[in-house]
Amino acid sequence: MSAMTTDAASRPTAPLRLGVLGAANISTKALYEPMQTVDRVQLVAIAARDRARAEAHAAEHGIAHVADDYEALLARDDVDAVFIPLAISLHHQWTLAALAAGKHVLCEKPFASNEAEAREMVEAADSAGLVLVEAFHWRYHPLADRLVELVAEIGGATAIRTAFTVPIPARDEVRRTFELSGGALMDLGCYPVQWARFVAGREPVTIDATMVPDTAPGRERVDVDTRMTFDFGDGLIAELHTSMADGVERASWIEVDGPGGSIRVDNPIAPQFGHRITVTRDGATTTEQVDGVTTYHHQMEAFVAAVLDGAEVPTGGSDSIATMAIIDECYREGGLGPRGT
Ligand SMILES: NC(=O)c1ccc[n+]([C@@H]2O[C@H](COP(=O)([O-])OP(=O)(O)OC[C@H]3O[C@@H](n4cnc5c(N)ncnc54)[C@H](OP(=O)(O)O)[C@@H]3O)[C@@H](O)[C@H]2O)c1
Repeated sequence: MSAMTTDAASRPTAPLRLGVLGAANISTKALYEPMQTVDRVQLVAIAARDRARAEAHAAEHGIAHVADDYEALLARDDVDAVFIPLAISLHHQWTLAALAAGKHVLCEKPFASNEAEAREMVEAADSAGLVLVEAFHWRYHPLADRLVELVAEIGGATAIRTAFTVPIPARDEVRRTFELSGGALMDLGCYPVQWARFVAGREPVTIDATMVPDTAPGRERVDVDTRMTFDFGDGLIAELHTSMADGVERASWIEVDGPGGSIRVDNPIAPQFGHRITVTRDGATTTEQVDGVTTYHHQMEAFVAAVLDGAEVPTGGSDSIATMAIIDECYREGGLGPRGT
């Protein structure tokens, strides 16, 4: 667990007053819907580059204030914390600005463009005594803890295979632009990277990666399809695949082999929309599901508890730095180079 606790005397009191930077697509699921069901939090302000878009989001979702721009939102005294769902290249700059303004931060995944940025963000939060969480929402659903139990029950992992593939259209600027820190590994592959590390319970010793770059002019450093092999030592190998190629199957899954059996999880990314855990032991196969609400509801609850109560959260801090270090190494191995460089 990452230690994210704040000094009790400096914690805001309920309700936590939240602001959001950007009128982002993901905010519907990750912010506006959880606001309907999570206690002790209130969305009070929004800012976007285009004020009209911010006003449209505010009208639709009952947000009281529209700030002129991101800086103006961060200057508001009635905002305790911000959600940052901006293009990845902007996470570092606006997380640092939010922390400097005394705001706690829930920042979308992947945390930053690269390891160096991630490290600077974590150090800034630590020295300000503020909560900084990476919005790796899947980790907050009870399915994640059930997976840990099952891995222990099969005697630990001896092999891991995992994938997250979604076709993403060429017009998607955020995911297909190097300067915005796009790429399949950044947008989608960060999940399999975290799944493999999570199941292994340690960091890879060596990494191999093969990348298929975008063929469109100016997008040569954007990976469309990436395969990775992580060697965790002691014989544990993980094979990972991510792709945003045209026509690729929409799928997310994790497979784990151990001395006492094997596990397959279908749809760890969004178990609220249906998932299946299949366990094979001693020649017998069973399937199960884990109760829970949306990953985003669980995540928002955890963020609110971290800020208001000093509760620990599992994503952010050293975990985010480790994820970004591995992503950087994959981009070096794949020949396209880390983002933000
Ligand atoms: N947790 C999840 O399930 C999930 C799912 C999808 C995405 N994400 C993550 O959420 C973040 C945003 O994704 P999204 O799909 O919501 O993206 P998006 O709506 O396309 O863009 C997000 C915001 O980034 C800003 N932006 C976009 N293009 C820009 C540009 N060229 N220059 C400067 N700013 C730009 C815009 O802010 P303004 O509104 O102020 O213009 C926009 O609202 C990413 O980190 C992504 O990886 C998470």
